[in-house]
Amino acid sequence: MVSSTLEIKDLHVDIEGEKILKGVNLTVKGGEFHAVMGPNGTGKSTLASAIMGHPKYEVTQGEVLLDGENVLEMEIDERAKAGLFLAMQYPSEVSGVTTSDFLRSSINAHREEGDEISLMKFIKEMDDAMDYLEMDKNMSQRYLNEGFSGGEKKRNEILQLMMLKPQIAILDEIDSGLDIDALKIVSKGINKLRNDSFGCLIITHYQRLLDYITPDKVHVMMQGRIVKTGGPELAKRLEAEGYDWVKEELGIEDEIAEQKA
Ligand SMILES: Nc1ncnc2c1ncn2[C@@H]1O[C@H](COP(=O)(O)OP(=O)(O)OP(=O)(O)O)[C@@H](O)[C@H]1O
Ligand SMILES: [Mg+2]
Repeated sequence: MVSSTLEIKDLHVDIEGEKILKGVNLTVKGGEFHAVMGPNGTGKSTLASAIMGHPKYEVTQGEVLLDGENVLEMEIDERAKAGLFLAMQYPSEVSGVTTSDFLRSSINAHREEGDEISLMKFIKEMDDAMDYLEMDKNMSQRYLNEGFSGGEKKRNEILQLMMLKPQIAILDEIDSGLDIDALKIVSKGINKLRNDSFGCLIITHYQRLLDYITPDKVHVMMQGRIVKTGGPELAKRLEAEGYDWVKEELGIEDEIAEQKA
């Protein structure tokens, strides 16, 4: 299998005229797991949404390349087809579409016409993945995320991840709201995907997720930029000491991206 590289180069993003990202540089290669940490409101979710092409996020400068191809020029469905996957911090509820139908059409959207996955094969794969994630099979017949608990939504994102098998995934606070057992199960699902053709950007606030998913690199985002990069030990120090020492070391006075006037 070929492995992909996601390159984020000097990315600047505005939301409604306000500068949120101010020059993000980050490269994720197949086989690598990167964690992005940072105080609230510093632009982590903005980075994820901008890469996936949320219309509110205006890229004013910089590039996002997937294997050298300009992601920012692709339509949103083309980004998914090219192998990018985003698990959102707040997954949306889709009434009228069952989880199972959604998954099947997402898988087929990645395949050529006439080469759709057979229903039998799909059901087998979905059942296996649901077993692996210890999910209740009834969930697949419920409308996507509708009435799902916080933890159920997150587990469902990992179900999609396991079935779609993207080249590069961005997981935004996939650990939020998970109980301790669910955290282990979700981590197990992500770790199962670890191979040379899968790269992952994990946005998280807590070391506890990184106890289960060992990152190759840990990045700290402040004021709309990656201000520090290290190994797993960086996340451990942040957990123990917070962000003040980073701000002091770098002479950053306020971690907020840019206060609104
Ligand atoms: N749709 C929007 N309209 C206006 N401002 C926005 C919008 N989305 C995000 N922002 C602002 O952009 C900044 C960065 O938000 P973002 O969600 O990227 O932060 P974050 O680092 O993910 O924070 P958290 O850790 O709390 O999830 C914040 O100041 C936020 O208020
Ligand atoms: Mg966020």
